[in-house]
Amino acid sequence: MVITGAARYADNPPVVVPVPMASITLHDVTKVYPGGHRAVRGVSLDIADGELVALVGPSGCGKSTTLRMIAGLEDVTSGVISIGGRVVNQVEPKDRDIAMVFQNYALYPHMTAYQNMAFSLRLRGVPRAEIDRRVRQAARMLDLVPLLGRRPREMSGGQRQRVAVGRAIVREPQCHLFDEPLSNLDARLRVTTRGELKALHQRLKTTTVYVTHDQEEAMTLGDRVVVMAQGIIQQAGPPLEVYRRPANRFVASFIGMPPMNFMDGTLGRDADSESGREVFVASEGGWTLSLPPVSGDSRRGTAGAPVVLGLRPQAFSIARDGGIPAGAEVWEVRVLVVEPLGESMDVTCERPGGERLVARIPAQEGEGVTPNSLARLAVDARQAHLFEPGEFGRSLSDGL
Ligand SMILES: Nc1ncnc2c1ncn2[C@@H]1O[C@H](COP(=O)(O)OP(=O)(O)O)[C@@H](O)[C@H]1O
Ligand SMILES: [Mg+2]
Repeated sequence: MVITGAARYADNPPVVVPVPMASITLHDVTKVYPGGHRAVRGVSLDIADGELVALVGPSGCGKSTTLRMIAGLEDVTSGVISIGGRVVNQVEPKDRDIAMVFQNYALYPHMTAYQNMAFSLRLRGVPRAEIDRRVRQAARMLDLVPLLGRRPREMSGGQRQRVAVGRAIVREPQCHLFDEPLSNLDARLRVTTRGELKALHQRLKTTTVYVTHDQEEAMTLGDRVVVMAQGIIQQAGPPLEVYRRPANRFVASFIGMPPMNFMDGTLGRDADSESGREVFVASEGGWTLSLPPVSGDSRRGTAGAPVVLGLRPQAFSIARDGGIPAGAEVWEVRVLVVEPLGESMDVTCERPGGERLVARIPAQEGEGVTPNSLARLAVDARQAHLFEPGEFGRSLSDGL
C-alpha cells in the first residue's frame, strides 16, 4: 500500500505549539533617530496575551518611541517585534491589528460621537448592522449612549476622551496601545477615567500597552509596570514588587510618592552585635542605622564601601514617650514644612547634620508637629533600602 503524504500527515500531525493570539514580544529593540539620537536601547519585553503593561518613565525616556515602533509608526533600527507570534518589523501599521489612542485624540469635529466611532469600520467596509452593534456595545461600556448624537464641541474633555477610546474598542483589535491618553484631563477626571479604563480592560482582556509619565497611573492600572529611563528598561514587574524591591536607585526614586529619601554614607559593621550586623554610617555627622539582615550568606558589600541609604517617607512615624515601635530608631529633627493631606501629613524636616527628609505620618500623630518645632521621628530600619552610589546605583537590599 502506498502511503500518501496526506495520510502520513494525519497519522503524525506536527506538534503545534499554540501561540497566544495577541502576545507582544520585543527582542533587543533599538531605535536610532536620523541625526544619531539613540532613543531606545536594547529593549526586550514579553507582554502576555490579555496583559496590561504600563510603560512609565520621565519625559524623553523613549516611551512613545517604543509604542510607535509596536504600532509600526516608527521603523525599528535593530531588533525584532512580534505580535501574536508574527514578526511585524516589515508589516504596515494598518495590517498589525492594533488600535492606538493618543494624548491628542483628534476627533472629527463635524461628526457625531457615533460617526466618529463608526468611521474606521466604514472605511473597512464592515456591514452597517455590525457597525451599529459594535458602536452601541462600546457606547454602553463607556457610558456614552446618551451622547452618541453629539459633536465633539458639545462634549466635555472627559467625554471626548471616552469617544476616542470607543473608537479604538470598536475595531476589536488584538492590542490596544495608549500613549498618555489622560494627560489632557483635569486631576479628578483623570482618576475616574483611569478607573473606567481598568474596568474596561478587565472586561475585554485585550492585550494593552499603556504609556504614562505618571507613576501612580502606572501602579494603579498595570498588571505589570515597566520603568524606563534613558531608553533602557530599568525594571519590569508587578506594581507592588517594583515598589517594594526597586532594582536600582532610579526606580526607587521614580516609583512611590513622595519620593524616597536618600542619604550618602558607607557600609560598616556593628562591633557590639555578635553576628557583626551591618550598619549604615552617614557621611554627614557619622550617625549610624542598623540594617535589616539580608537572606542567606549574601552580603551587601565590603565594609567601608560607599553606599546610599534609601528610606521612603512612609518608613517614619512620630515617636511618643514609651511608644517606639520595635526595631525602630529615633531621630531628633527640626520641622521645616507641614503639608496636611487629610488622612496623613507630609513633614519636611532637617537632621542636626543638615540633611533634609520628608516623612509621611498619619494625621492623628501630627498633633504639635508645627514648623520650627522639634520632633522625634521613629525610623523603621526594616524598611531601609541600600544602593550603590550614583543615579542608577544597584539595589543592595533584599527589600521587604
Ligand atoms: N522624530 C524624532 N527625531 C529625533 N528625535 C526624536 C524624535 N522623536 C523623539 N525623539 C527623541 O527621542 C527621545 C525619546 O522620545 P520619546 O519616545 O518621545 O520620549 P517619551 O515618550 O518617553 O517622552 C527624546 O530625546 C526625543 O527628543
Ligand atoms: Mg511620549
